[in-house]
Amino acid sequence: MFTRRSALAVMGSALAAIGFGSPAQAAGKTYKVCKPSAIPVKGGKSFVVGGRKILITQIKSGSFKAFDATCTHAGCPVTQISSSAMTCTCHGAQFSPTTGAVLSGPARAPLQKITVKLVSGTVTVVF
Ligand code: FES
Repeated sequence: MFTRRSALAVMGSALAAIGFGSPAQAAGKTYKVCKPSAIPVKGGKSFVVGGRKILITQIKSGSFKAFDATCTHAGCPVTQISSSAMTCTCHGAQFSPTTGAVLSGPARAPLQKITVKLVSGTVTVVF
């Protein structure tokens, strides 16, 4: 039987096959940010890269995570980073420094993740 759900699945597969609708295939611009030593272990640092405020954390040595610094509650920049939380001082929302997930409100959505990697000894982000 051809249901609405199966029709949507077929359409999605067809679009993915021709290059639409697959976020994993979305190419971004690569930005060199800093040396790994510029980001404190068990902490993080904020940067403005390509005109965008971002946070890069290194809770475990050599493991970098990056997030858009825009708080998902009302858009203030998230500015405080510790080993246990990234905090927006506008209304107190807290986010995980390893996943960006909400730890406490009023925000309800996680911080947007950004691809980060080490390239030739330089912390690099792609978005
Ligand atoms: S804007 Fe960040 S907690 Fe409200």
